[in-house]
Amino acid sequence: MDAKRRDRYPIVLDLPAHLETPAVLVDRDILQANIDRMQALADGSALVLRPHVKTHKSVQIARLQLAAGANGLTVSKVEEALVFIEAGLPSVTLAYPLVSAVKLDRLLGAARRCGCDLRLIVDSMAGVDLLAARAVEQGAQPGVFIKVDVGLQRCGRKPDDPLVPALAQALTDAVGLDFRGLLSHAGHVYSAVDGNAAARTAEEERLSMTALASRLRRAGYRVPEVSVGSTPTVLAARRFDGLTEIRPGNYVFMDQTPLRLGLIPPFSHCAQRSDYGGQRQRTLCHCRCRRQNPQFGSRGPRHGRDRRLWPGLGVESLGRYGSTFDGWQTFRRAWLRP
Ligand SMILES: Cc1ncc(COP(=O)(O)O)c(C=O)c1O
Repeated sequence: MDAKRRDRYPIVLDLPAHLETPAVLVDRDILQANIDRMQALADGSALVLRPHVKTHKSVQIARLQLAAGANGLTVSKVEEALVFIEAGLPSVTLAYPLVSAVKLDRLLGAARRCGCDLRLIVDSMAGVDLLAARAVEQGAQPGVFIKVDVGLQRCGRKPDDPLVPALAQALTDAVGLDFRGLLSHAGHVYSAVDGNAAARTAEEERLSMTALASRLRRAGYRVPEVSVGSTPTVLAARRFDGLTEIRPGNYVFMDQTPLRLGLIPPFSHCAQRSDYGGQRQRTLCHCRCRRQNPQFGSRGPRHGRDRRLWPGLGVESLGRYGSTFDGWQTFRRAWLRP
């Protein structure tokens, strides 16, 4: 089948007969190429790459990212962090502001036991106080970032919030904490209308983060790191100066959003073709997670509405399974046919 035809009819899989469903099919060559491409982008701009694992949740794939040159990983919840810490991975950032002493103790204990460089974020004084108290109690010294809200409005402080310097002061003063700098995630880029809009979001994020870092440095604080990142902003960005780290996650598989924004060529970069969870005669029965299926971005314009994307092909149903951390089967090729 020629490449043009394959791109037009990308869904129907010729599955290996022994495959038990549901299963995730990952094209290893594309996966590795995506990993290498993002690493080259980071290296070319002298940035640390700390990929977000929420897309793959796989120690196996995280190891591929580290082998390619990533400095550590980013996770979004305690359970995820524990899996990667206990697997012996060297450095983990939990990019969610923790306010639970029980969870913190579990995390700090695991990091100490496994020799993991643990990095956390805060967006409140209560968060700093809790971290400082638990770190001293546990004899730990985690790195800590102030989470900056650059537009997603999920968590974090606005760049001009007067609490930001107060947090920097409290983190600098705390004996058990190592103030590392600022961290943001411009997840609102998933609503961008095109690649130029995504590039503008990336530049707005860069400007507000670097301006805030400069203000803090002028006020006498050490701000060694400025960490940003989502796959669309990183792929669309035209400049990275002033930033030290990127944390894309989606790029290992790629979903509809980078495709829709014209940031990757049609389908050739999509490593996860489909999840297949049902009868073989159906075109596509279950997507593991809308966000991870290459046809759908989490907030793409077709999300959940237009289920007939290609002639003759429709999505039977969309569902979410629970998170899994192992059991990924990778195949050399999941061959596609019209
Ligand atoms: C804090 C944080 N950093 C990085 C990422 C990675 O973004 P993406 O999945 O667009 O690559 C996410 C994703 O939600 C995130 O929440």
